[in-house]
Amino acid sequence: MAKAKMIVDREFKIAEIDKRIYGSFIEHLGRAVYTGIYQPGHPAADEEGFRKDVIELVRELGVPIVRYPGGNFVSNFFWEDSVGPKENRKARLDLAWRTLEPNTFGIDEFQRWVKKTDSQIMMAVNLGTRGVKDALNLLEYCNLDAKTGSTYAKMRADFGHVEPYNIKTWCLGNEMDGPWQVGHKIAPEYGRLAAETAKAMKYMDNSLEFVLCGSSNVDMPTFPAWERTTLEEAYNYVDYVSLHQYYGNQAGDTADFLAKTLDLERFIHTIECTIDYVKAAKRSKKQVNLSFDEWNVWYHSNAGDDKKMAEEPWGLAPHLLEDHYNFEDALLVGLILITFLKHADRIRIACLAQLVNVIAPIMTETDGPAWRQTIYYPFLQASKYGRGTALQCPLSSTKHDTSGHEDVTDVDATAVYNEEKGELAVFAVNRSVSENAELSLDLRSFAENGLQVVEHTEMTGYAVDAVNSAADDHAVSPKPAEGVLADGEYKAVLKPLSWNCIVFKVG
Ligand code: AHR
Repeated sequence: MAKAKMIVDREFKIAEIDKRIYGSFIEHLGRAVYTGIYQPGHPAADEEGFRKDVIELVRELGVPIVRYPGGNFVSNFFWEDSVGPKENRKARLDLAWRTLEPNTFGIDEFQRWVKKTDSQIMMAVNLGTRGVKDALNLLEYCNLDAKTGSTYAKMRADFGHVEPYNIKTWCLGNEMDGPWQVGHKIAPEYGRLAAETAKAMKYMDNSLEFVLCGSSNVDMPTFPAWERTTLEEAYNYVDYVSLHQYYGNQAGDTADFLAKTLDLERFIHTIECTIDYVKAAKRSKKQVNLSFDEWNVWYHSNAGDDKKMAEEPWGLAPHLLEDHYNFEDALLVGLILITFLKHADRIRIACLAQLVNVIAPIMTETDGPAWRQTIYYPFLQASKYGRGTALQCPLSSTKHDTSGHEDVTDVDATAVYNEEKGELAVFAVNRSVSENAELSLDLRSFAENGLQVVEHTEMTGYAVDAVNSAADDHAVSPKPAEGVLADGEYKAVLKPLSWNCIVFKVG
């Protein structure tokens, strides 16, 4: 049997968790918008054409911020086409996904939708085919009071949206290091453009926050020189560096797939160090942090999508990036969330990419219901119980090697203390494919004032390729589990391949 012991002490604090680490992402891509969040005429649509069944699931997930409108899409997006009377809106070719963008859903509709989900927008500006001027116009359209009399603020009010949107967090383009990006740039070029864009936008509103594009993924040949060079240009104007990373189990090797958070740890650490190097070189007192604004499993749909985009381009809302997630994907999503919580001092924003239909926890049937994929559940539990203070929890676990990784802990886990609610949550994955793991939690610092188990649930016992469906979206989901709490210690046997969420009432 594998073994793990973790000390959970209320005094060992990492940081207050920024709730925006439970953010997500809606891109104009595939069926994310059209037939995803927006489908006039669907039986579940409200008076504005928003699917209420989707809104309900997004609210259940508790997503506090949604990045929009891309993604690769944003790099050739003309925001003016997406506002105003619908009959005047222009359809455009989206070159990123080889799709026709009808622009019947745009910035104003998104703002209305986000309000209904109790969330907020994290807006990306087009730094591919556009630049400073258009970013400023968009900012004015979104945030400026029409009483100023300025053109774009008045335009918004004339279109019926008098109240400014007050969007605080802005992404300076998307994946500008990627040769696939429309308007791709080299690092010094992008660094200058990002700095000048943020500087000008700050002239309009100095309280805004900016996210600098980091590398598109850890395997980019320019990683991490890209971060260093662009930060050297833009450090004084930005608040976050973006990280993007998707994982896949192309090799069908579950043990190695579940070890990929070791790579993720190294990625995060490298970016933290690169930021701090530039900070030191600039003798700066300002701290730039991390926005992990695209992350997920993404590989199931790749081959089909390449074929579709090559052979059937320029369709409306095609089925693209519709990964059907299985049980092992949910375990990796849980492990990624645990990793983010361990870095809560530096990762202040994270966006599960994406939210609906496109590599998403929520799927919709065009002529049917909305439903929850397997990955929905670990995200839901982390978002629900993982708010408050991230705790630094010394963890010792037995280990194993995989085909691509050494010294992989059988158990990975962390804990969050929500003082306000008097709640302590422990998230733990046993990633051993064959061994039970005996977990012991040392909770003595919490036990002093009385401690009770509220619930222990586990997602386990499924075939690694088990999936959910519209007919049964609870097929793969958390079920009640058991452990024993005595003398300030909680003991439980974590099944092989299991996601566990244990919630305690404190005091
Ligand atoms: O999320 C899908 C795509 O992945 C995004 O458009 C892009 O930014 C990334 O490469």
